[in-house]
Amino acid sequence: MKIAIIGLGYVGLPLSIQFARSHVNVLGLDIDSKKVELLNNGKSYIKHVEASAIAELVDSKKFSVSTNFSLIEQVEAVIICVPTPLTKNREPDISFIKETGRSIAPHIAKGALVVLESTTYPGTTDDELRIVLEQGSGMKAGLDFHLAFSPEREDPANEQSKVKTIPKVIGGYTPTCLKKAMALYGRAIDRLVPVSSCRVAEATKLLENIFRGVNIALVNELKVIYAAMGIDIWEVIEAAKTKPFGFMPFYPGPGLGGHCIPIDPFYLTWKAREHGEATRFIELAGEINTRMPEYVVHRVADALNAQQKSVNGSRILVLGVAYKPNVDDERQSPSYVLMDLLEQRGAEVAYYDPFVPVIKPTREHSQFAGRESVEWNRETMVNFDVVLVATNHSSVNYQELADWACCIVDTRNAMVSIPSASGKVWKA
Ligand SMILES: NC(=O)c1ccc[n+]([C@@H]2O[C@H](COP(=O)([O-])OP(=O)(O)OC[C@H]3O[C@@H](n4cnc5c(N)ncnc54)[C@H](O)[C@@H]3O)[C@@H](O)[C@H]2O)c1
Repeated sequence: MKIAIIGLGYVGLPLSIQFARSHVNVLGLDIDSKKVELLNNGKSYIKHVEASAIAELVDSKKFSVSTNFSLIEQVEAVIICVPTPLTKNREPDISFIKETGRSIAPHIAKGALVVLESTTYPGTTDDELRIVLEQGSGMKAGLDFHLAFSPEREDPANEQSKVKTIPKVIGGYTPTCLKKAMALYGRAIDRLVPVSSCRVAEATKLLENIFRGVNIALVNELKVIYAAMGIDIWEVIEAAKTKPFGFMPFYPGPGLGGHCIPIDPFYLTWKAREHGEATRFIELAGEINTRMPEYVVHRVADALNAQQKSVNGSRILVLGVAYKPNVDDERQSPSYVLMDLLEQRGAEVAYYDPFVPVIKPTREHSQFAGRESVEWNRETMVNFDVVLVATNHSSVNYQELADWACCIVDTRNAMVSIPSASGKVWKA
């Protein structure tokens, strides 16, 4: 069997590897020619995706990569994993999906299956993608080609979470479309979860991410309330999670980051408006999570104040700009919001991140592009008035941090196991 996977990012690349390892010939397609060149040379651009795995599959011709979308005519199935961001006005931007649909439509083979994996609002596959594919191919979905939606559940850097063993939800445009999609994923994934439609599958993914967003907001709010009462939220969560039923731990932080949780819930908000419905939980969670960086900056100001210093003129190191531990993904990172807020208040801000040696250009924080991580050594660390732990990468030596830094503001409870740090740590 030969399939194509379009969009070779955090989702599409590990998925390509899993299919290629399952004796399926995979054609990877991307519009980014630099990525295509790297992959064809057996190299990786994602920290947790091993270059050796790519090289082996490229050498054995199980995995080939191209920018030529007309090659779609050779494949039995196409899986689409392109970005679904928000526009400047925080509305869904499904232009990448539509553009992909337009590029592949003229080349889809009769009887082929097209599956969308990008997170999106209910109705995207059945209505928007289907229409683009039908118009560009002159064929009918469900008759001449098959159509399905199957959300990705990738959890980068989680060793326990592998593409093969994460159950896969699948919805088809017709029962036959579902059958075709089940047959495809059954080759590479251990457990499939069929649902009655593409809309249900789309809505399932949104529920999963809204659930995270709302629960993170809850612990973020409780963090602030408990701190005012002199209670440490981290200790409370550790105790609560011993309950063997009815509780699941979520952890507070400096604000939301990444490609999913800060964005996906608002896909539903936008679609719900069309039906005259309001998404109050999503809006409230968004408000609380968005306010977190301001709270953290207040805690930095408190920590400096205790040393008779002000934010204005202080030297502050932000530790970690990736949005979560042990990844090199800095998209939508709250660290950039923190850096921005601190600089607006006159602080001199630097950062350290072992996985982000140089900051890439971003739309929201273009002023940081090209800045380089400082070196990890005593001479550098002792010079900061505050070290602000924004991401708790496990490769960081927190004992050294406790020894070297004069004041630490900790948003991740990273210093909890370093007794010698007590007295210089401010939880935020
Ligand atoms: N990153 C995650 O952990 C994660 C988890 C679950 C779901 N998702 C969802 O999966 C989708 C993809 O996310 P990602 O993190 O892999 O994004 P990404 O930015 O890492 O990768 C997307 C890739 O698509 C390519 N691309 C863009 N437009 C294209 C086009 N028209 N044709 C072909 N290629 C194109 C880009 O060059 C890039 O390589 C999004 O909808 C996201 O919400 C992501």
